[in-house]
Amino acid sequence: MPETVMPSLQATLFSGYIGEGPRTAQFERELGEWLGVPSVVAVNSGTAALHLALHLAGVGPGDEVISTPQTCVATHSPILSLGARVVWADIDPWTGNISVEDVAKKCTASTKAIMAVHWGGLPCDLTELKQVARQWNIPLIEDAAHALGSDYQGRRIGCHADFVCFSFQAIKMLTTGDGGALVCLAPEDDRRARRLRWFGLERNPVGHDECRWEQAIHEHGYKFHMNDIAATIGCEQLRYLDANVARHQAHAAIYDDVLRGFRRLRPLRQSSDRRSAHWLYTIRATERAAFIAHMHAAGIETSRVHVRNDRYPIFAASACDGLAGVETFDAEQVSIPCGWWLSDTDVNTIVAALRQFEEAAA
Ligand SMILES: Cc1ncc(COP(=O)(O)O)c(C=O)c1O
Repeated sequence: MPETVMPSLQATLFSGYIGEGPRTAQFERELGEWLGVPSVVAVNSGTAALHLALHLAGVGPGDEVISTPQTCVATHSPILSLGARVVWADIDPWTGNISVEDVAKKCTASTKAIMAVHWGGLPCDLTELKQVARQWNIPLIEDAAHALGSDYQGRRIGCHADFVCFSFQAIKMLTTGDGGALVCLAPEDDRRARRLRWFGLERNPVGHDECRWEQAIHEHGYKFHMNDIAATIGCEQLRYLDANVARHQAHAAIYDDVLRGFRRLRPLRQSSDRRSAHWLYTIRATERAAFIAHMHAAGIETSRVHVRNDRYPIFAASACDGLAGVETFDAEQVSIPCGWWLSDTDVNTIVAALRQFEEAAA
């Protein structure tokens, strides 16, 4: 958290107004400019953004949503909350991202949406996924919780699909403590999302200055709006975002160079038409437990970050075979520290530990 947040945070805290108000509107405007999109709906978590996107996609009881097991359970909780079922698609074990081929095989008349998660920030094959979605006349939802600052075919993640969901949870590239944002391609979805995030009510209804509760509610909504405390933090964090993303990417480039030719530790693969913001730097370690222990002994923490979701008992109704890519990735994937907070000395220490592990096998 930048210390420079304090003056603006203090001003908001003692302004007499800390709910969703002017700072939230400012955050939405500034984030929209940064992403290159006309409108952003700020909410109180990435999960809330996903829930709204699924609701707007029309997902309800009995419907199916195709998704990847390799993500946070937050990607799928809203699907269950809406009474729908997850259908698992396999992933590419060299990216951690959903396989377009398998998505295309699994679409049926019951499919209501396709969910794409950009693992660690690495963009999925969005052009191909959009083609499949168009064929079936269903929306593509991006869970971009890891992908703030990533780009795909020359444009930032945020402007490619029907719905794009961001998270500003405690450890994300930009944090508001907790928070999230939804970007809708269709202006009507954007308008509806603004009502749904606050019980189905207009926040600033024309002609209802005295009592904004006195409006007709045509569709019941949620309490998903962002508050001005979180938004104030978000505005300040935005000032550091370019520099932070650049540092993540610079660290990743160093690791890419170091790992070239390694056999025990292998980096993921990135096509030239996209660039990960590298919220994570994930590698595949054939002897993962030994690698984690080696790094730990060197004072370096590593993490699997998320585990395959299809093994959670809540998804028993979705059980399926044929997830070979998930098997491989889940068995080997682990992320090493990559964040903007690492000093050059930290990075050198990590590089030395990677080399030691590789060389120990020789
Ligand atoms: C891939 C992914 N999707 C969704 C979420 C949920 O975001 P939030 O914690 O802001 O609800 C997270 C993590 O927090 C995540 O990693």
